Amino acid sequence: MTPAEFDMLAAQVRLRSGLVVGHDKFYLLESRLVPIARRRGLAGLDDLVALVARGNDEALLREITEAMTTNESFFFRDVRPFDVFRTETLPHLLQARAATRRLRIWSAACSSGQEPYSLAMILHEFAAQLEGWTIELLGTDLSSEMLDKARAGLYSQFEVQRGLPVQMLMTHFSRVGQQWQLAPALRSMVSFGRVNLIEDLSALGEFDVVFCRNVLIYFDLPTRAKVLDNIARQIPLDGALYLGGAETVLGATDRFRPVPGQRGVYAVAA
Ligand SMILES: C[S@@+](CC[C@H](N)C(=O)[O-])C[C@H]1O[C@@H](n2cnc3c(N)ncnc32)[C@H](O)[C@@H]1O
Repeated sequence: MTPAEFDMLAAQVRLRSGLVVGHDKFYLLESRLVPIARRRGLAGLDDLVALVARGNDEALLREITEAMTTNESFFFRDVRPFDVFRTETLPHLLQARAATRRLRIWSAACSSGQEPYSLAMILHEFAAQLEGWTIELLGTDLSSEMLDKARAGLYSQFEVQRGLPVQMLMTHFSRVGQQWQLAPALRSMVSFGRVNLIEDLSALGEFDVVFCRNVLIYFDLPTRAKVLDNIARQIPLDGALYLGGAETVLGATDRFRPVPGQRGVYAVAA
């Protein structure tokens, strides 16, 4: 692949996802394109690039874009945000929503599902208090492949060893061959769908809590600002936005303010 062809592909990926594919990703892009070329019965990357250059195969461009996502995730990632959700956000919302008994929680960019399922396990701890409540837990991502994996709720030994307390593994998972599968009751708490964060999000409605973790880091500043502004419109004043450890709203938007004492948690600015 020539540098010009790389730039053309990177521009297509960025247009469709906001993901910045820098020149340091040259070999990564090539390695991720090879299986796509093979699946399409093409002789090699040159044929694939030629097909893209013709510009009328939207399905191919979507496939290439999804192939360039970084899908690293694990259960209870960074621990602390999930503790804050359990000890601060959820108890607050239990009081604040006592009249409607309705909660909507969104894991935006949920990858293979560990994040929304971690939240489902916490909600399960509150089962008695949430009796009679309507809880919606939505997991969305750009990658259809990751969403399929998330829906299956099947994880390798390596994946369940990353962040998942052994007690929770024993309580909520069962062995399926070499893998572990989350119990149907917990899987059914989460609905999954494909949502591109750089598109209009208004049809999703309002969420009391949004986890949007470890995805903004892959966007440039204007895209981060746009996504955060869009998300701000979906959260009420007493709701909460959770970002990843390396992410912040500072410098990107003034629609959010940090919640004092809760690192990585933001509220919509009044
Ligand atoms: C590193 S994972 C983060 C997963 C999880 N939130 C966590 O913190 O463990 C980033 C995810 O963002 C998704 N993603 C990238 N660009 C996106 C976009 N424009 N819209 C929605 N999801 C996107 C990728 O497919 C990937 O699964």
